[in-house]
This record gives sequence, structure tokens and C-alpha cells, in this order.
Amino acid sequence: MFFGKPKDIIGLDIGSSSVKLVKLKESGKGYQLERFGIQPLATELIVDGTIMDAGMVVDAIKALLSEQKIKTKTAAISVSGNAVIVKKITLPAMSEDELAESIKWEAEQYIPFDINDVNVDYQILGSAQGAEGQPQINVVLVAVKKDKLNDYTALVTEAGLDPLVVDIDAFAIENMYGINYEAAPGEITALINIGAGIMNINILKDGTFAFARDISIGGNRYTETIQKELGLSYEEAEKAKKGETVEGVQADEAQRVINTVSAELASEITRSFDFFRTTSAHENIDKIFISGGSAMLNGIAPFLTDKLGIGVELANPFKNIKINPKDFDPEYIQHIAPIAAVAVGLGIRKVGDR
Ligand SMILES: Nc1ncnc2c1ncn2[C@@H]1O[C@H](COP(=O)(O)OP(=O)(O)OP(=O)(O)O)[C@@H](O)[C@H]1O
Ligand SMILES: [Mg+2]
Repeated sequence: MFFGKPKDIIGLDIGSSSVKLVKLKESGKGYQLERFGIQPLATELIVDGTIMDAGMVVDAIKALLSEQKIKTKTAAISVSGNAVIVKKITLPAMSEDELAESIKWEAEQYIPFDINDVNVDYQILGSAQGAEGQPQINVVLVAVKKDKLNDYTALVTEAGLDPLVVDIDAFAIENMYGINYEAAPGEITALINIGAGIMNINILKDGTFAFARDISIGGNRYTETIQKELGLSYEEAEKAKKGETVEGVQADEAQRVINTVSAELASEITRSFDFFRTTSAHENIDKIFISGGSAMLNGIAPFLTDKLGIGVELANPFKNIKINPKDFDPEYIQHIAPIAAVAVGLGIRKVGDR
């Protein structure tokens, strides 16, 4: 932009257990962390990606903005869960205009919702070739239920922000990966973000989108199972899950329950990987990065590595982001990093991005 600076934007990840805010500033060729904050949400305010109590969530966002002294009015947010459908499709080669014209009709056959109830967006991934050598294009199709989009944008507007970018969690994680990691040629990487209620799975080939799916399982499943199996309150179960001492609970008892839930997650991951394999010519997943609050679960990376037979590494969303020790405690940032994956991916979006 010629006059003045391009507008600032904040990344705001409205999760069901907390709202995460990241503000980055460009620094040389990269980024520096300017603001980072987390505001916990009471349980049941957002359930399965549906906002149950907008007023309380608005208050939490406002509290976070004031705590972080945010002057910026523009935000990038994201949605996830069962109101979001992402599909890679292959179409006969056509011009961008032709694609824009026909995408709604193409989308109709891939989207399990009434086409009038969703917002459809798409991006061309690249060209391909059909079985007889006919020219084709690969397109990623995104459909989000309109009422869901409206709920989230209304919420953010109510909190005094302008939601200029509305993304989906899976793409935010992909952007986070893009600034921090580099895939080897031909490598197939799975990015798995394990939150409280939702696990986002995103598979990349050569760093480009190949497959995404959101599954309704996450940290809550651990807490609820510990609560039930060990006869604890929700708060006690949450503590036991995080490895904190809870009266009358043996560490190995809690670990046994944790492992059963981790095994359940592993089989959900395997199911998605199997599905990915049937819908694509790609074979095996080479590497997995996990993020989200539940990636902080003690020992989950080695557990999943063992169960899945694929190397699992904890993603560090701040890997290539400069952190001034005058602004942040590096040890805290290092520890909490996985929870910031979506917010970092949103924070690197620019005003005017789609
Ligand atoms: N140290 C820890 N060990 C285990 N689990 C943890 C730890 N810290 C946080 N969690 C869990 O991480 C989850 C929150 O993660 P995250 O903030 O990524 O989810 P969210 O974005 O709020 O939810 P969602 O996107 O699923 O709606 C909670 O279930 C919380 O209990
Ligand atoms: Mg989340």
C-alpha cells in the first residue's frame, strides 16, 4: 500500500475452552510476537462449535482485548466442526471466470447440506491430468453453514471488532505450518490440532492441501472419562489429566484412563488416514505434527507414534517468530506454544486476504 501502513490485524481463535489472541508484527522477512493472550471460557458456552451463550463469549473477548491493550479493530477468526465441509475436487480445466460461474453447481454434489444454506468458497490448487490425458484442475472447496458464519461474525462485531477474515481452523493450522516448517519434496504431512471438543486433521502433500476433516473428540473426552472412571468432579479430573496431584488419585490410575482415551483418538486418526488413502492416489503419511491444548498432554506424542507407527512431533507455532524476552517469558511461551497454533495461523493473515 502506498499511503500509510497496511492495516493491522489480530488473530482471534474462539475455541470452546478459551479464546486465544495473537498479534504479530512484520520484522524483516519474518514476524515478531507483539501480543499473545488466552481468556478461558466457562464450559458449555460453546458446544460442538455452536455458540450457546453469545453474551458471555463477547465479554471474554472484550476482557482479552483490554488485558492485551489492543487498539487494532480488525480481526481474523475461524470456524470449525460439523458445519464446515472441505473437499479437494478435480474438475475439467476451465478459466477462472468459468470456475467462478460453475462452482456453486459443482459444489452441490459434494456438499451434504442445502446449497442455499452454505457459503461456498474455493481455491485452485493446481493442474492435473485425467486418465485419458485430458487437462483438469484440482480445487479445494470449502462450504460453511451460513447461520454458523453469522453467529461468529455477529459475536466478534459485538465485541467491537471487524471480522475481515473468516477462515477455517484447518487452513489456519496449514498457514502456521507454512511459516515454521518445510516439507521434503513429495512428503505427506498430517497436521493434527487437538482442542477441547474438536480434533482438526489436515493432510498436506508437498506442503499443499490434500485432505481435511474435523472430528468431535478432544480434551473434553479425557476429562469426562477420568471423571467417570475415577469418580471425580470435572475440575479434579481436569487437574488429574494435566498431571497435577489430586487427593486420592494415583498417578498410574489416571494414566491408565488417559491411555484408553489416547487409543480412541489414535483409532479416529487411523480412520481418517484410511479414508484419505481411498480418496487419493497418495500412499503413506510420512510425518505428523500435533498442536492444540491437548497436544500438551504428557506423553501423547510418543504414545501416538507408537500406536500409529508414524513419527509424531509437537508443533511449535512460534518456531520462526521472534520473541523478545523483554515482552514475554520464553519458557512460558515454549510451554504454551501448541495451544496458539490456530491463532498464529490467523495472525499472519492480512487485511484483504480472502
Ligand atoms: N497441560 C495440559 N495437559 C493436558 N491437556 C491440556 C493441558 N493444557 C490444556 N489442555 C487441554 O487442552 C484443551 C484446550 O485446547 P484448545 O485451547 O486447543 O481447545 P479450544 O480451541 O478451546 O477448543 P475447540 O477448538 O476444540 O473448541 C482442553 O481440553 C484442556 O483441558
Ligand atoms: Mg480450537
